[in-house]
Amino acid sequence: MTMPRPWWQTGVVYQIYPRSFADADGDGIGDLAGIRRHLDHLVWLGVDALWLSPFYRSPMRDFGYDVADHCDVDPLFGSLADAERLIDDAHARGLRVLIDFVPNHTSDQHPWFQESRADRTNPRRAWYVWRDPRPDGGPPNNWRAAFSDVPAWTLDPRTGQYYLHCFLPEQPDLDWSHPPVVQAMHDVLRFWLARYVDGFRIDVAHLIGKDPALADVPAPVAGLPQVVLNDRPETHALLRALRSLVDGYPGDRMTVGEIYLLETERVASYYGRDDELHLAFNFPPLYAPWTADAWRQQLASAAATLDPKGAWPTWVLSNHDNKRHRTRYGGDERRARAAAVLLLTMRGTPFLFQGEELGLEDAHVDAAARRDPGGRDGARAPMPWERAAPHGWTGAQPWLPFPPDAAAGSVEQLQSDPTSILHLYRRLLGLRRALPALHAGAQVPLAAPDGVVAFERSEGSSRVAVFVNYTEEPITLRHTPGTLLASSVTIHETTPSFAGVLAPYEAVVVHLAT
Ligand code: NOJ
Repeated sequence: MTMPRPWWQTGVVYQIYPRSFADADGDGIGDLAGIRRHLDHLVWLGVDALWLSPFYRSPMRDFGYDVADHCDVDPLFGSLADAERLIDDAHARGLRVLIDFVPNHTSDQHPWFQESRADRTNPRRAWYVWRDPRPDGGPPNNWRAAFSDVPAWTLDPRTGQYYLHCFLPEQPDLDWSHPPVVQAMHDVLRFWLARYVDGFRIDVAHLIGKDPALADVPAPVAGLPQVVLNDRPETHALLRALRSLVDGYPGDRMTVGEIYLLETERVASYYGRDDELHLAFNFPPLYAPWTADAWRQQLASAAATLDPKGAWPTWVLSNHDNKRHRTRYGGDERRARAAAVLLLTMRGTPFLFQGEELGLEDAHVDAAARRDPGGRDGARAPMPWERAAPHGWTGAQPWLPFPPDAAAGSVEQLQSDPTSILHLYRRLLGLRRALPALHAGAQVPLAAPDGVVAFERSEGSSRVAVFVNYTEEPITLRHTPGTLLASSVTIHETTPSFAGVLAPYEAVVVHLAT
């Protein structure tokens, strides 16, 4: 008998960016109470879990990825009691809850860093990475920070040493080679596990182990930010310890690590021997163009690198760090609909980003309205809930402008239209949950004409085929017996059989006769 797969393999995760999801207190910034009010949207949609981007106390220089207290909620978002209520309410609806764990760095306002920078002999000095200047006064090595092309080191005049920050200067890197740091961060995990979270999305999980020599990066990659380069054996040992801590709790708790190394083979190594991350984000597909050739290659590469290790794949098309995929794919809703079929039928755990079920595009954010030092505001625009402005955001103006066509793309509008992309997502999520072939089955590529990606999913005697037309032309398939289960074009019609012709940009799910 085969063991049933855990929820984090069969389920679908929905990412919530709390600032932009829903605002209950009317200050123009989303909050935890707002999320609680809209949990029924997620239940109606049919996802299994939500992942909350950071809601911890933070000066918000990187909108919460600069944590000043890992065990408290920023007053902008509510209170610790609100977080507990949200976890309870989600669980009561059968939704799992993942929270963001940001282990690599803290805010420079975190009391740990405040103590660390106070003087060279402070007991917290070794919690962060402090080094003397080079003889010429320059930074200790040639590592670069993310977001803007500056050194990953800032000189702190008070003590005459540089500290490391792979992101903003306001995000100093913790030193995970110092055991008290490991203990303190384990305590953070325990704090939230005791509050019944189902797992953690681990921010830049591949970055916590560093070269103890802090050597320069060599010429071919010098100039790239350290976050895309850092791939160290030290990290694997640290992740094994995190894994055993999380696995020590009852109830299928899990981790999904952000591995910002843009090669699937490197990503695969962070699953360890099933003793490191439970899941790891694989971003090369997110950066792949919308062409059949590129996607055939991504599917083949995931299968070739992850399957032999028994590593369960993940699929992400959009998140808070990148332009939304509808925008990246040129704005055409037909492509976004086809992408929904692909994302929700591949073998592996799909991660949706809030608003992709509405087919949202990035907002246009004028220079004056820009907020993010990393230029990522467009994807972080507020969710339009209601058709009429201000789209369910009462009170103050939301902190960012709405995406284009917010009325037409609002939840209210799209729910009332059974042909909408929102209903397509719901239908696909329902299908995925109902069919073991889709949520648990094997996947093999099928031969298909140019411009089409095709694969079969199967579990026991249940067999399903997926065809995605990446082109603007209709394409006739050669061999297509079966019943149409879903189409990105005609979701609302119940067509008994599939005629074998894909409309432009059409993707279909076909039930194969056994
Ligand atoms: C990755 C997060 O997704 C991103 O939003 C953040 O800026 C960096 N890590 C730094 O924490």
